[in-house]
This record gives sequence, structure tokens and C-alpha cells, in this order.
Amino acid sequence: MEVVTSIAAVRERVRQWHRERLSVAFVPTMGNLHAGHVSLIEAAARRGERFVASIFVNPMQFGPNEDFAHYPRTPREDEHMLAAAGCHLMFLPDVAEIYPRGLEASTRIDVPELSRILCGAFRPGHFEGVATVVAKLLNIVEPNCAVFGEKDYQQLTVIRRMVADLCMPVEIIAAPTVREADGLAMSSRNQYLTAAERGIAPRLFEELSRAAARLASGERDFPALEGAAVRALESAGFRPEYFSIRARDLELPRRDARDLVVLAAARLGRARLIDNVQVSR
Ligand code: PAF
Repeated sequence: MEVVTSIAAVRERVRQWHRERLSVAFVPTMGNLHAGHVSLIEAAARRGERFVASIFVNPMQFGPNEDFAHYPRTPREDEHMLAAAGCHLMFLPDVAEIYPRGLEASTRIDVPELSRILCGAFRPGHFEGVATVVAKLLNIVEPNCAVFGEKDYQQLTVIRRMVADLCMPVEIIAAPTVREADGLAMSSRNQYLTAAERGIAPRLFEELSRAAARLASGERDFPALEGAAVRALESAGFRPEYFSIRARDLELPRRDARDLVVLAAARLGRARLIDNVQVSR
């Protein structure tokens, strides 16, 4: 596996592959890779004859009081993991390579309909930062396909919309959420949990699954289901931000909608956990 830090080096390598008519799959990450990322990497390895991963903790998607400075950074371990997974090219840019004019002066991409709801209501500017960096990374790597986790369902929806709206020639592939044995969705931020909080954390997935099971069996009182879940999470010790039943495109659902997604974000100690469960009836 080759490790490069410049945009020019990525372009040179990937354009050579395109000239050789090799398909290129891309996994953008913020590093600190775990088994959840491995599933993205495996999906990419299945889809592309060459596979590129980026590791970049994107300052534009963090709010002023968020964990940008403390976000876990483990580039050496990530490099070994990617090499073992058969990655061909690891792109490890610094902030100046991605934002040469600084964050404030950079062009930004806004997906307005999807960026201010759910997580976006609690993290102003977050999805603008995600959309901007993903657009830049897709323009740098020029892959045939790019893989994103369903764990970040709203992020995936924002990226799909951006790619459609900007006519970007890339296929977006969703990879299923990977869970610990007790159901907790894998995330780099789980390491912020204390041992006691780690014991409580799977309740988030339990409440999502409970609501999904009720929806699957025909229950349609969405506010009642959401309210019950918020109360259950509060009594377990969470500080829920939202628990919301939505159509798959994140619109508010019609009562007769068959395909739904239940999404939640809740704080537990220092950690902010997000998760979702899709359900069809
Ligand atoms: O999901 C992530 O790790 C990040 O939001 C992403 C897509 C790599 C953009 O920085």
C-alpha cells in the first residue's frame, strides 16, 4: 500500500488506474479505524479493482465546543489495518492541503433541506462541513464508487442528495452498521464512555429496535412511540437529543408509509451516541 499526503500524488496514481481501465472504490474516513470501518473497507474491496482510503479529521464538520482537538488520531495503526485489508492507496492529507485558504475563506456546500433537521439541529454547520469535505475528496480521488456507513444515516442521505444535485459521476454505496455483541453500534466515540456508561449504552439500540418492532407490527402513533422511547432513555441515564421516526428520505412520514427509519441521538456522559434502525412493513 502506498501512503500519500498530497492531492497531486492521489490524482497521478488514480488517473493511471483509470487509464488502465481499473475500477476505483473509495472509503473516506476520519481514521481511528475499528471493525465498523473494516466492513466499509470490505465493501469497497468487493466493488473496486483498486481501493483508496482517506484519513482526515475534518475541522469544518466540528462545532467550536466539539471534540476536534481530542478526536482520537491513530494514523500508524490505521495504516497497518488498511494494508492488511488490501488497500492500495492511503491518502493522509493535512488541513492545509484540504483547506489551503483556511476554513473561513473556503467554498462550502450546503444541502439545506437535510442539514438542519435531526443531528443538524443540534450541530449547526456539521453537515455543511461533511458535504464540503466529501465533495472535495470525491473530486480529488475521482472514484467510480464511494462507501459510507448506514450508522450515519443522515450523513449518507445528505451525501446521496449532494451527489445527485451536483451531478457527480460517482456511485454511493451504503454499508450496514456493525455492532458490538450487545448491540451498541461501533464508533470511535464509544471510547469516551466510562465502564458504567458502556453498560448502559446498548439501551439506545434496544429502544430503536423496540420502536421498529412496534412499527413493523402496524403501530402508527409515531409521537407516542417517540415519547415512550425518550422517557425510557432518560430514566436509563441518557440525555436524548431526538428520537424520531422518519420516511427513508428523512421526510416526516405519512401514516401509511411502509418503509421507515427510526433515528436517535443521545448524550451519555462525555459521549454523543447516534444510531438508527430501518423498518419495513
Ligand atoms: O463519517 C465520517 O467519518 C466523516 O464524516 C467523513 C465522511 C469521513 C467526512 O469527514
